[in-house]
Amino acid sequence: MKIILASDHAGIPMKKELAEFVTALGHEVTDIGAQEGQAAEYPVYGRMAGEKLAAGEAEWAILVCGTGFGISLGANSVPGVRCVNCTEPYTALLSRQHNNSNAIALGARVIGIELAKMIVDVWLKAEFEGGRHARRLEMLEMYYE
Ligand code: RB5
Repeated sequence: MKIILASDHAGIPMKKELAEFVTALGHEVTDIGAQEGQAAEYPVYGRMAGEKLAAGEAEWAILVCGTGFGISLGANSVPGVRCVNCTEPYTALLSRQHNNSNAIALGARVIGIELAKMIVDVWLKAEFEGGRHARRLEMLEMYYE
């Protein structure tokens, strides 16, 4: 699968490690920034990743900032993006099975890299269950209109 990676300045080291991890799992990764030395505001990179996702440039996005929350807000400002901010694997799993999350945001100042990898691994392997969950997502879509 094609996966966009993005971060602000606080998320750069974790994002780079996750890029290697996800590539080793067989996915095609595009790191849209920020890179060391760039101005790196989380709303900009969250929004940019969300726009690329909504445009179909990738199936999924993995985002990193200090808490994960700020960059998730940027991504979720784009209609069609369902970005979950995760600190543990259970929410990552259910966000995919029930909410069909297409982006995940992690906090580099909150969790360590091994937990981040575990969360990403669970999230990438989970599948949307459809059925009653699809109906609930359709309800949300109506609110966006
Ligand atoms: C940057 O210092 C920090 O505010 C940001 O990475 C993030 O935690 C915001 O949600």
